[in-house]
Amino acid sequence: MITINEHYLKLQASYLFSDIAGRVADFQKKNPDREVIKLGIGDVTKGLTPASIDAFHLAVDEMADDATFRGYGPEQGYDFLRNAIAENDFQSRGADISADEIFVSDGAKCDTGNIQELFARNIKIAIPDPVYPVYLDTNVMAGRTGDFTDDRFQGLVYLDSTRENNFVPSLPEENVDLIYLCFPNNPTGSTITREELQTWVDYARDHKALILFDAAYESFIRDDSLPRSIYELEGAREIAIEFRSFSKSAGFTGTRCAYSVVPRECIAYDSEGSRHFLHSLWNRRHCTKFNGVSYPVQRAAEAIYSEQGKLQTRALTDYYLKNAAHICKTIADLGYEYTGGENSPYIWVDGRMGSWEFFDMLLNKAGVVCTPGAGFGKCGNGYIRFSAFNSYENVETAMSGLTAALSD
Ligand code: MLT
Repeated sequence: MITINEHYLKLQASYLFSDIAGRVADFQKKNPDREVIKLGIGDVTKGLTPASIDAFHLAVDEMADDATFRGYGPEQGYDFLRNAIAENDFQSRGADISADEIFVSDGAKCDTGNIQELFARNIKIAIPDPVYPVYLDTNVMAGRTGDFTDDRFQGLVYLDSTRENNFVPSLPEENVDLIYLCFPNNPTGSTITREELQTWVDYARDHKALILFDAAYESFIRDDSLPRSIYELEGAREIAIEFRSFSKSAGFTGTRCAYSVVPRECIAYDSEGSRHFLHSLWNRRHCTKFNGVSYPVQRAAEAIYSEQGKLQTRALTDYYLKNAAHICKTIADLGYEYTGGENSPYIWVDGRMGSWEFFDMLLNKAGVVCTPGAGFGKCGNGYIRFSAFNSYENVETAMSGLTAALSD
């Protein structure tokens, strides 16, 4: 008899963004004449930059010619891309990361979801609340939690991110082994200072713990005092793995390219307390289960680091940040409290009613889709998240709709 992994039965019925997509599809079916503006899932709307597109086309042409055709590439990514990443995203900012510590992949969602395979089942995990659901659900699937009761999975240490702590969680009071952090944060849009992040690095070093640092939104940082990478901080190489993505920085949500950084010194322990290098374990996993990102996509990603590419991708994130500023202004004018929207494409709003109630109200009255904060965890109850990924015109229309809906 084939039996299932019963940990899957502990999960909520469907993934948050699939649930929202289903509700929106249902609304559109019932209201075929209503226009819907999506500020829910963080999915970019502007096309790839000319620098990426030119490189993409060229690489596709190379694939048509036997002389330049490429078959399987290196699982970890081509050197041309790994070198460009190491130089531009890390070394130029004083972070000591080399090309062979970069693992190119098809998404930060997959990487943050897959990395937990490297760790024992009985580790103590600290997860922020609210949180990007992937970190949580993949650990539930792996059997690292108990049941879901009172809006939380038993056996985890939740790190509350609330108005009181400015949406930056405090260090856990008990010992934990694995810590998920994401800054600029999804979903709250909050940022972490160098000093605050250093306390996490120091905690991890003192407790032989590991930090999984999701920096998928670093390209939205405009405040130079904020860290863009955890490796800008003293002592992080031994205790942190970082995740980055080209999805939001360069419009690759549909093109798929991202990377993880696993420094050579980064360690974890076996049950006897012996040290093991995570770089070799992740490399083993990556080579076994992944066959690399396609050559044209990697060329398109490399082009982001050309002089023109840098200017063009900066213009992309500037565009979405202008949308974010407009959303923030509207929310502030309406007298609602919010965080994020600066150094981040997400705006986290205290909706003064249940999150799903706000979601339904806004969809029905204004045809605007947001993400209910409750879908990101218990601390998200009462909040909603706006994403700045849409055209400026649509954001203006959505904000007029929001203003009218809340003034009714
Ligand atoms: C989000 O809206 O939180 C993100 O787009 C989800 C993702 O990147 O997978």
